[in-house]
Amino acid sequence: MASGSLPKLLILGAGGHGRVVADAAQRQGAWRVVEATDRDPARCSGELIAGVSRVEPRGALAGAVAVHVAIGDGRARQAEAATLDPESLSTVVHPQASVSPHSSVGPGCFVAAQAVVAPGARLGAGVIVNHGAVVDHDCEVGSFSHVAPQAALGGGVRIGDRVLVGTGACVLPGIRICDDVTVGAGSVVRSPITQSGVYAGVPARRIR
Ligand SMILES: CC(C)(COP(=O)(O)OP(=O)(O)OC[C@H]1O[C@@H](n2cnc3c(N)ncnc32)[C@H](O)[C@@H]1OP(=O)(O)O)[C@@H](O)C(=O)NCCC(=O)NCCS
Repeated sequence: MASGSLPKLLILGAGGHGRVVADAAQRQGAWRVVEATDRDPARCSGELIAGVSRVEPRGALAGAVAVHVAIGDGRARQAEAATLDPESLSTVVHPQASVSPHSSVGPGCFVAAQAVVAPGARLGAGVIVNHGAVVDHDCEVGSFSHVAPQAALGGGVRIGDRVLVGTGACVLPGIRICDDVTVGAGSVVRSPITQSGVYAGVPARRIR
């Protein structure tokens, strides 16, 4: 496709996660131009990273062809996505991620550098698979969940919506986790989690 016919990507969320998404989107090369905006007016001028301008939301949203919500918190990401045309929600995949053609990736997902999405895996809408994270074969990841950097889901794991699997945490194969759960950094989940809350440790236990 000639670069003139590529769509513009607007990144909604001009903070740290937005910078990571902007960097991946630039390298993906699927966009004519990448811009960023934010609900915080202090984040609506200057550049997010070199080549990605931060603009006012009003005009930017009106003209955007493709939008990616780059907010780390799952509940906030879901709320922001709900205000947008579902057709406009766009997935960004870093060119150094490995996403199997035998997996399915929902709208508005982000897959970062060195992340792996294995065959048979299914990601819902707005999922983040962060740097170096692994979603192994046949996993199911609910909408607006986040598999943080270096976290790993073993084969056949099923996690609900708005789940955060913290940095470096690990969920053993076949385990299920319900909606609205946070798994602490470095934790190991070895039995099913059926109640929303915060779990941490090795093995992970409910702390809140
Ligand atoms: C689990 C977590 C959410 C808890 O945060 P919190 O509610 O503020 O909890 P606190 O820091 O007050 O800790 C509460 C207790 O849990 C323990 N704890 C906290 N995080 C822990 C972890 N990751 N592993 C083991 N124990 C942990 C604390 O030591 C403390 O124990 P104590 O009561 O015996 O002193 C947070 O520590 C965490 O790991 N967040 C993940 C962050 C992340 O990876 N984000 C991804 C960004 S890309």
